[in-house]
Amino acid sequence: MKKISLPGDKSITQRLLILGGLTEGKSCLKGPLSSTDCFSTADVLRNLGVKIESFSDGGELTITGMGLQGFHSPKKDLDFQNSGTGARLMLGVLASQLKLEDVIVTGDNSLRKRPMERVVKPLREAGAMFEYLEETERLPLSLSGRLLKSIHYQSPVASAQVKSALLFAGLVSGETSILSEPRQSRDHTERILESVGVPIHERNHQGRWEVRMDDPPSRLNPFEIDIPGDFSSAAFFIGLATLGGVKGGLTLENVGLNPTRTGLIDVLLRMGARIQISESISRDLREVIGSIEISPSELSGTEIRPEEVPCMIDEFPLLAILASRAVGVTKIRGVGELRLKESDRISTLVHNMRTIGLNVEEFEDGLEIVGTEIPLKGKVYSQGDHRIAMAFGILNALPNNQIEIEGAAAVSVSFPGFWSVLSDLQKELNHS
Ligand code: S3P
Repeated sequence: MKKISLPGDKSITQRLLILGGLTEGKSCLKGPLSSTDCFSTADVLRNLGVKIESFSDGGELTITGMGLQGFHSPKKDLDFQNSGTGARLMLGVLASQLKLEDVIVTGDNSLRKRPMERVVKPLREAGAMFEYLEETERLPLSLSGRLLKSIHYQSPVASAQVKSALLFAGLVSGETSILSEPRQSRDHTERILESVGVPIHERNHQGRWEVRMDDPPSRLNPFEIDIPGDFSSAAFFIGLATLGGVKGGLTLENVGLNPTRTGLIDVLLRMGARIQISESISRDLREVIGSIEISPSELSGTEIRPEEVPCMIDEFPLLAILASRAVGVTKIRGVGELRLKESDRISTLVHNMRTIGLNVEEFEDGLEIVGTEIPLKGKVYSQGDHRIAMAFGILNALPNNQIEIEGAAAVSVSFPGFWSVLSDLQKELNHS
């Protein structure tokens, strides 16, 4: 069985870059993701005075942190480019950096369309100073660092970015943070904080998921952490191998298997996929890691349950593609959040899928896809969205399909090597 490993986890790399900047001393990341989203966050941190070496996939990276309150006034605007995670998490960190006055935070055209109020509102309630500069609730905004009060917040959305921004804000201002979300979103921040010695308490409380950080420490020690492969990048190759696009099946090694990320596996097993997992625990990071073995199989349509959404929030473009090759109808509802991602993923998927000949129905909060075996042909548009480009890349790699992808370079934000990994696997299939 063919084996591959994936580039480092984007969520974990971004969090560790930020946390490394807040420690006192030198931290080391092993296997960070080198993609444009991570480069944007690293550049912003450098602009604030943090020393970060240039980095490449699979390598090691040293970060010299400045302490919890050490960021300097930046020489230029803080531009997060396409990185929603970088921007939202750093708003929490920056809001309570006392040396910062009138600092401008911005991003590319896609990020400037995405909602920031979900983070700005709770931070303002704790005393943060933000001013939207152009459109309300969107970047660019200007901020000045203030001492924040303790945060108590009930988030209306299950969002790891909101949760992490508020935990980071509490950490920097030395205050307790208690927050809850309708369902548990990915918990990398909680695991990372625990692994660097910041206790986090979590529980199901009154039908919501509550996270609590009491009395954070006044300084953070540097760390050395191995970063596993990104499950969301692995997902595309799980999809390819399931649909028979890798001769003899595929094994993905050293992948992050955090249960708040792997919802796609449960859904695929229900659809009939043949997937085997072997797990171990990463001691330095408190994350589950392991390998995934995928054999080709026939899929049946399914219905996504609301409680499944947060744990597979980034996998819906791929799931829609898999559903198009399943027997029967797949119903994906309760995913309105997808309209707020790097593109409006519901409308981008529906439009592109119809263009290549698929029968798809659009709803305000989702889509329904009728599976088919007909050859799929036509030109699709990524709308600058990496996961849309990769999802259609997988569909195009299957026999008889001919799909041209406009904006294929968008993959660089999370998986710059995607096209070459895909073409290597395809060559093997064609030569067999
Ligand atoms: C992320 C959280 C998710 C996810 C995004 C990365 C993170 O966003 O879609 O790709 O690293 O915290 P939300 O928190 O908005 O759901």
